[in-house]
Formats: sequence, structure tokens, C-alpha cells
Amino acid sequence: MDQEPPFGETYKTLLHNSSLGEPKDENPLIVEECDLPLIDLSQLNAERDKCIKQITQAAREWGFFQVVNHGISQKVLKILKDEQTKVFHLPFQKKIEDNFLNLSANSYRWGNSKATFLRHVPWSEALHLSLADISRMDECKSTLRSTIEAFVAVAASLAQSLAEILSQILGIKSTYFQENCPPNTSYLRLNRYPPCPFPSKAFGLMPHTDSSFLTILYQDHVGGLQLLKDGKWFRVKPNPQALVINIGDLFQALSNDVFKSIKHRVVSSEEVERFSVAYFYCPSSDAVIQSCCSTKRLLPAVYKHFSFREYQQQVRKDVEATGDKVGLSRFLL
Ligand code: OGA
Ligand code: NI
Repeated sequence: MDQEPPFGETYKTLLHNSSLGEPKDENPLIVEECDLPLIDLSQLNAERDKCIKQITQAAREWGFFQVVNHGISQKVLKILKDEQTKVFHLPFQKKIEDNFLNLSANSYRWGNSKATFLRHVPWSEALHLSLADISRMDECKSTLRSTIEAFVAVAASLAQSLAEILSQILGIKSTYFQENCPPNTSYLRLNRYPPCPFPSKAFGLMPHTDSSFLTILYQDHVGGLQLLKDGKWFRVKPNPQALVINIGDLFQALSNDVFKSIKHRVVSSEEVERFSVAYFYCPSSDAVIQSCCSTKRLLPAVYKHFSFREYQQQVRKDVEATGDKVGLSRFLL
């Protein structure tokens, strides 16, 4: 199909040599079903304290949870999925054009040109958008832009509310996120996972942590997201009513390791394509992340102060050098 990136053609050699020296998985055989904590956000009105406790506990124990009654309508989510499908089903040649949708260079991504192992090739394509870029998008050719804008408006307020709730037990100033995460500093990633003929040899998305404060993920009904908890991989069962929330590296640092930025990955399906949308709640580049040491936890700070710019630069450098992000451990004291 002319919509598909040329995975097979590009990675022919890796496919051919795929049994030679491929890196070993972390606990490859143990994959269990898990029911992530499911939190009903409408309870924030009636039983606020109880609901806040559930959110905080999930962020500490799992770093991942699902929310329902989150304020993003099923209609907005459905239109977003339809628009996303349309854009990824455009011919591949169109998607790699320089001025595709009038976005910045490198917004459309697929595979990994530097990979030396099939295990390092994400069998997926993505539109990775800085929110500041969305206003440049070509509106005349598609309704993708207005759909994204509608989603982002509500996702931003959901992200800020959750971040503020989580920061309460850390003793962080209630205006911290308002001050450090102005509109447009976050990122949106539209993912498409084409059917993969070798799902046991290539990941849809390699194990990673997110660099955000937190991430809001909308996934379709196909499934494939897995998370690493206590040394085991767990499958996250798709729930069409729910959004998946996960803690990112910045919140782990800010919370001085109280909240966990958990490794996750995507395993592709052999038969069907899968779509997801990730909203990465991020601060401005200058924002300084400083491990909090709340009055209840007089533990010394685990991480050095760093700006989000420094963090992103370090991640970029490590990814270029090794194909993998080292992440927070670079900033340990
Ligand atoms: C991501 C991510 C998971 C998914 O985009 O960072 O982890 O299910 N996505 O697509
Ligand atoms: Ni992720």
C-alpha cells in the first residue's frame, strides 16, 4: 500500500540478520494482564478527598492510571481518531514532503534510520507536534487542525488539574504549573502502528519513559501498550471510555522520586493497525525542575536542579550517541 512507510525494504538487512546479536528483552516472556487503577474524575466534586487520594496513590504505586469522566467528550475523541486515520492514510510520499501540512521539519517520523538492530526500529509512524506549531498547520486542506485544537484545549486543562492535585502532597506552590507551563509549551504526538509481520522481533514503540510532567494517552480498542512494574511487563487493556495517564520524568524529579515515571512500550499486532494520541504536558524550556523535599519527607534531594532545556538537550545527545535515552539518571546528585 502506498500509505505505508517502506519498513520491509529499509530494514531488509536487519530482518535478514535479525537473530544475530539482537539485544535481549527485559523479562520478555512474562507479560500479564493488568487492571490499571480506574479513577472516576466526577468524584472530584462529591468526594474530593477520596478521589485525590486515589490519584496520588496510583501515581506513587503505578505511575500509570486510567481516568473516566475526564471532560474530553467521546465526540471530540472520535473525530480526532477519524482525522488521524485520514492523515496517516495519505500516500507515504506526501507525508515525507518538506512542507507536509506546513509543519516544522521532522514532525513526521517513522522507523529509525540509525538502528542496527530490528529491536531498535519502532514499527510505527508519528506526527510529533509542538503545540506552538499547530497554529501554522494548513487548515484549508484538512480539518485536522481544528480537531487537534479542540482536543488540546481540554487536554491542557485536564493535565493542569491532575498536576495540581498531585502536587498538593508535595507541598509545591499551587501556582507552580500555571507559571511554568504556559499554553503551547506541551507536545502532541499522533501515533500509528501499522500491522507488523514480525511482532515478536520489532516493537511498535521501544521501552521508554516520557520526558513530560505527565502524559495523557488516548488509545483505540486494539491494545498493545505494556508497562513495566516490579520487573514484569503488564498489558494495559484498552478501555474506550478512559484515558490513560502516566507520570513522566519531570514529575518523578520534581517529586523527588515519590511519583514514578514508568517504562512502557508498544507491541504491534500482526493483523490490524492501531492508533493512539499522546499529550505530553511540559513546561517552557527555561523552567527549572527542582526536587521538592516536602515537610513530611525530610529526605535529601535525589536530583540536581535542571532546566527543561538541559533535559531535552541531554536526551537528544544520548539518543544520537546510543539510540537510547538515558534519562533522569543523568541528573542524579
Ligand atoms: C508515547 C507512548 C503509547 C501508545 O507516544 O510516548 O508511549 O500506546 N505511546 O501509543
Ligand atoms: Ni510514552
